[in-house]
Amino acid sequence: MALIELKDVSKLYGFGDATTLALDEVSVTIERGEFVAVMGPSGCGKSSLMNVIGLLDRPSHGNYKLDGRKVAKLRANRAARVRRDTIGFIFQSYNLLPRLSILENVALPLAYKGVSVKKRIRQASTMLERVGIQNREYFMPSQLSGGQLQCAAIARALVNNPKLIIADEPTGNLDSESSRLVMELLSEIHKTGNTVLFVTHNPELTRYATRVLYMHDGNIIHDEQTAIGQVAATARKVLYTLPTTNEEDDLAGVSALMRARPDVPSVGRKVTRPKSRSTKKAASKRKTSVRRKKADV
Ligand SMILES: Nc1ncnc2c1ncn2[C@@H]1O[C@H](COP(=O)(O)OP(=O)(O)OP(=O)(O)O)[C@@H](O)[C@H]1O
Ligand SMILES: [Mg+2]
Repeated sequence: MALIELKDVSKLYGFGDATTLALDEVSVTIERGEFVAVMGPSGCGKSSLMNVIGLLDRPSHGNYKLDGRKVAKLRANRAARVRRDTIGFIFQSYNLLPRLSILENVALPLAYKGVSVKKRIRQASTMLERVGIQNREYFMPSQLSGGQLQCAAIARALVNNPKLIIADEPTGNLDSESSRLVMELLSEIHKTGNTVLFVTHNPELTRYATRVLYMHDGNIIHDEQTAIGQVAATARKVLYTLPTTNEEDDLAGVSALMRARPDVPSVGRKVTRPKSRSTKKAASKRKTSVRRKKADV
């Protein structure tokens, strides 16, 4: 039995003229143990799909079976209970409560479940050890780096031992080193038998996945099985066709930045940059034409 079965699921937001069709009759089946990346342009419906699968939102039409159970029309409190027991959510902006310590944040889902204080502190501490930040358990969220906050959010998502982990752009706010750490952590979670779904704009991160779903305009337009360790074939095409900025664009950006910051004098500052291939080429062209001109004289 598949863990997730969506059949002709649509999601509409708003009413009348202001209606947005965020999901357009999406059908997809995800088996236990898959590690699925979801990609696609901004606004194509990735978060809407995650929210429906994660029971944060109800589909407007269609059928959804989670772990064999029909969940498309569950009432809010029932959906909350299934979500608590089955799903761990990780968001781009961590969503930790600022007035609670890291340990209290991680223990919070257990409090909702009615677990005793002693037990939930112990379990939360074990989870923080698993994600490598047990030494930060009495810190407040404001005292941690982005990468550490996301590790804490992962610990919170795992504390209920969910079958399914959903991460909506978990590395969206992180530098490449912290992104790697977070993805390695999700990989480990996957290896221990969990099903993991994550949204990303970064084709490189498809290396971690076993399957990639590409979305466009509320549809899944391509579904690709992929080997762990390799960038998925379609994602690779995206990677190599991404527009690259040239030096003129960069310099225009720098001068715009200077103008936007009155405290930084825009004159008298020299921007030194290593020469890119194209400028080296242009310089050598100039040299050749100067040599030619000299030879002409
Ligand atoms: N609560 C909402 N109310 C109205 N429209 C919404 C709502 N949430 C999403 N939408 C619309 O639904 C469409 C899909 O949005 P969604 O957030 O799922 O896109 P996304 O693929 O996650 O984009 P991004 O990559 O920018 O996060 C968009 O057109 C968006 O404006
Ligand atoms: Mg989104």
